[in-house]
Amino acid sequence: MGMDFRYKKLGYVALNVTDMEKSAKFYEAMVGLDPSGDGADGCKFFRCSNDHHNIILYPSRTGGLKRVGWEMEDDRNLDMAFGHFAEIGLKPHWIDAAESNALFQGRTFRMTEPNTGATFEYYATITQFVPNYSQKITKIARLGHVVLSVVNFDETLKFFTEQLNYRVSDYISGIIAFTRCFPNPYHHSLAIGKANENRLNHVNFMVTDIDDVGRGNVRARHMQVPIVYGPGRHPPSDSIFLYFLDPDETTIEFSFGMEEFPEHNARPPRMLAAGLETIDYWGGFPDPRFAAKGVIETVG
Ligand SMILES: [Fe+2]
Repeated sequence: MGMDFRYKKLGYVALNVTDMEKSAKFYEAMVGLDPSGDGADGCKFFRCSNDHHNIILYPSRTGGLKRVGWEMEDDRNLDMAFGHFAEIGLKPHWIDAAESNALFQGRTFRMTEPNTGATFEYYATITQFVPNYSQKITKIARLGHVVLSVVNFDETLKFFTEQLNYRVSDYISGIIAFTRCFPNPYHHSLAIGKANENRLNHVNFMVTDIDDVGRGNVRARHMQVPIVYGPGRHPPSDSIFLYFLDPDETTIEFSFGMEEFPEHNARPPRMLAAGLETIDYWGGFPDPRFAAKGVIETVG
């Protein structure tokens, strides 16, 4: 198999924002990320780990998703992924050294995910900070996952599992598939949901403590940040969640608790029944603004 390259984790998400000042304040004071510098092209870096960045904000006319960065286990696996993507005609391309240096990353390549048009980026090394991520507002454990809404659900899922080496952890039949980037243990770093247009559904941060969800709920109310779903509990991953909107109405999630899978002999995926109880044990309903925005920037 040409696709047995190994991921380390979901590395970062680059978001387009229409009001940099407002969004920078939101990601620092509401979400609880540490600012980690300004880029030459007007971008701003933020982190919730010792990685140089886990979120980058880019100034844009339209809010939404700019790209998703995946960290591979090492350079050998990075090259294996590049080779496989080239072989199946995805036209991956290495970014030049000036650009990867400006991103504080080692060798980096990008490609267009063919089902959504989203830009996916791959690298194996990223500059590490010595002072630890502060956790001063939220004790974020990690950038958790990204969910993409797609029109061609079956084809997209087939592509991710057969060509990108993601493993399905659970399905809600024909509606959503939760996948892990192998051999990363977390229940899902990426999920694919069926929709009538391709867009970013939400970006998740896993928190350390249930109090981080509770405090986020109170902080959102104080800061007039719209809460669009939760607090509640998701049965598929058994996590306590809170969804709220960034200044461009991109949906952001905090959640606490997630199943971890072993690399070998992992349990098979479960096919879960559709229905709101499958989504929230506590019976809550999403607001119509939940995951309603989130334009995926496409290149050329
Ligand atoms: Fe989520």
